[in-house]
Amino acid sequence: MRLVHISDLHFGSRFNETAFESAVEEINSLEPDALVVSGDLSDDGLTHEFERARDMLKGFKCKNLIVCPGNHDYRNTGYLILKDYFSLKQVYETEVAKIIVLKTARPDKNEGEVGYRQQLWLEKQFRDTGKTRIVVMHHHLIPVPDTGVERDTVIDAGDVLAALKRSKIDLVLCGHKHRPWKWDFEGLKIMHAGSLSDIRLRGFFHNSYNIIDVDEKGIHGTVKVIGGDELSFDVLEKERMN
Ligand SMILES: [Fe+2]
Ligand SMILES: [Fe+2]
Repeated sequence: MRLVHISDLHFGSRFNETAFESAVEEINSLEPDALVVSGDLSDDGLTHEFERARDMLKGFKCKNLIVCPGNHDYRNTGYLILKDYFSLKQVYETEVAKIIVLKTARPDKNEGEVGYRQQLWLEKQFRDTGKTRIVVMHHHLIPVPDTGVERDTVIDAGDVLAALKRSKIDLVLCGHKHRPWKWDFEGLKIMHAGSLSDIRLRGFFHNSYNIIDVDEKGIHGTVKVIGGDELSFDVLEKERMN
């Protein structure tokens, strides 16, 4: 199974249309089984931003479009209208994976929260599945290097990490920091996508997305610079050391 993970599109004043259009072409040629959009589709949660996002996302040819809200989408009561533009289903199954969306965004707040009830629901969802276990959320669960002072994190991250461990989650996909990165913890991988099309980037100064292949050998992810190279996460780490 091939997943493409895009994030932080930010349709609004900082939207890079050229990067977005190139990404559509590149990603369609990859023929992903699922396209994950981990939040911040809009800049300010406004109607015209969601309209434009919906219309332009139609350019992606993929049968499973998985959309998760971000903190920017919940601004200006955007949480009341987002569902009119995108399916906000939280449970998806492909032949090889069960994919659950956790909603971390809260109205008019930049920080994220999963909450006790959603944690219990998550654990119930993964009680009986033999498939690869994947969770999608907008906020970064663990700090990401080169993104400045740590802020706007998941305020109940400790409890969420424990719930993910208990549920034997294989992979978590996050966005929010506009910087691609991977953490690997004894079977639990946390992959962060950079920004697909916002001009505001941190620590890695290219618009990008992640390509993730899941098969019997395991989970393998790479970072694709739009219009540029496909990089391993290890290269990102090594480049940072130089
Ligand atoms: Fe963002
Ligand atoms: Fe965000």
